[in-house]
Amino acid sequence: MDKSSLQRDSFGSKFGVIAAAAGSAIGLGNIWKFPYITGVYGGAAFIVVYLICIVLIGFPLMLSEFLIGRKAQKNAIGAFKKLAPNTPWFLTGWIGVAAAFVILSFYGVVAGWCMEYIFKAAANTFAGQSPDQIGGIFGGFISSASKPIFWQIAFMALTAWIVVAGIKDGIEKYSKVLMPMLLVIIIILDIRAITLPGAEDGLAFLFKPDWSKITGEAVLAALGHAFFSLSLGMGTMITYGSYISKKENLGETAIQVTIADTSIALLAGIAIFPAVFAFGIEPNVGPGLVFVTLPNVFQQMPYGHVFGILFFVLLAVAALTSSISILEVVVAYFAEDLKMSRKKATIIAALIITVIGIFCSLSNGPLAEAKLFGLAFMDLLIWCSDNLLLPLGGLFITLFAGWYMKRSSVEEEVKAEGVKAGYFGAFIFLTKFVAPILIALVFLNGIGLL
Ligand code: PFF
Repeated sequence: MDKSSLQRDSFGSKFGVIAAAAGSAIGLGNIWKFPYITGVYGGAAFIVVYLICIVLIGFPLMLSEFLIGRKAQKNAIGAFKKLAPNTPWFLTGWIGVAAAFVILSFYGVVAGWCMEYIFKAAANTFAGQSPDQIGGIFGGFISSASKPIFWQIAFMALTAWIVVAGIKDGIEKYSKVLMPMLLVIIIILDIRAITLPGAEDGLAFLFKPDWSKITGEAVLAALGHAFFSLSLGMGTMITYGSYISKKENLGETAIQVTIADTSIALLAGIAIFPAVFAFGIEPNVGPGLVFVTLPNVFQQMPYGHVFGILFFVLLAVAALTSSISILEVVVAYFAEDLKMSRKKATIIAALIITVIGIFCSLSNGPLAEAKLFGLAFMDLLIWCSDNLLLPLGGLFITLFAGWYMKRSSVEEEVKAEGVKAGYFGAFIFLTKFVAPILIALVFLNGIGLL
């Protein structure tokens, strides 16, 4: 072990590892995106396909990332340089760092919307407004020039403030508080939702599959979402894996994080759809589901604004524990490989991302007509991460763990006491064959070749 790896910061406890990694996975993807794409693709059948994707691709890819990171004790780019010196594999890490810039730029914008909505809910802005007016409030807000940028900058400052403090005293410390808080809030919202009169229709929508709704497009959307939701394909879990102590059982950790992420997505669906159905609103409205449909639902409920505040606090907290993990991918690289101090690395990375994010925000309003490849800037970044960077990064990571790394060194990281040989064999089979083939399909489809 070289000197620098001896001095590396690391997670201090098992709960800290789970809180931080689950904190990364659980985010806007679970609470904002999962419900609306489930709504668009028809409910329960989509969820079943999503669960299959999680098992066949999500889990093996997460474990691959953890093991690469822990073996190398390095950031996303440095890990490939160390494990595969003098080969082009380090480009996989570059895809990850590029994805971090791209994703956090738009993620910070949407997280900023959540912060504004905490205040809107607290001020009871939606009371007595018609659905059209509530839609107008959202449209007016995201397309205005300064307010969304103000919140995006505030959110990025908060993210940077946590990351600068380091792994144990920053990321782990805050995740350990914020994640239990998130769980309590979502359970309160779930209880409220399932006790609404007429909640059954919403639950049926979530849990009774109608297989006729499953199309090729739905399967690919499920697969793409599995990546985003589990924070995979861009080295986030490589970076976090490098901070996990050798004592921890990586397979068990990957299973726990995957289950936590999936459970929260389902709990978010349970908080949202019963209310949507109870108030006779269509479930398939798309991205506006939580910013337009839900305020409309809340304002019809007794004490709705209190539930509204709780809901948007939940979203902002979930977004924060994810955004710190995205920023950490860049900061770890800047600090370790470019030899910057952690503070300087964080400030530079956060500043660049904030500036790109400002253009994302403006592309919902003043710059909406400035299209690149036919898309507004923010949509272009979302397209690039969903269809290009994450699938490509994920593909190379599974190929690296499944084919490039020696079986013995993979085994050394993954095999812990009590792990049966059969489980290890299944992981290798998924990583070598199943995951890369399925990911290649998403990729080819995403770029329009399939
Ligand atoms: N998993 C996060 C979510 O579901 O919101 C988003 C995310 C975080 C994506 C970290 C990628 C990442 F590296």
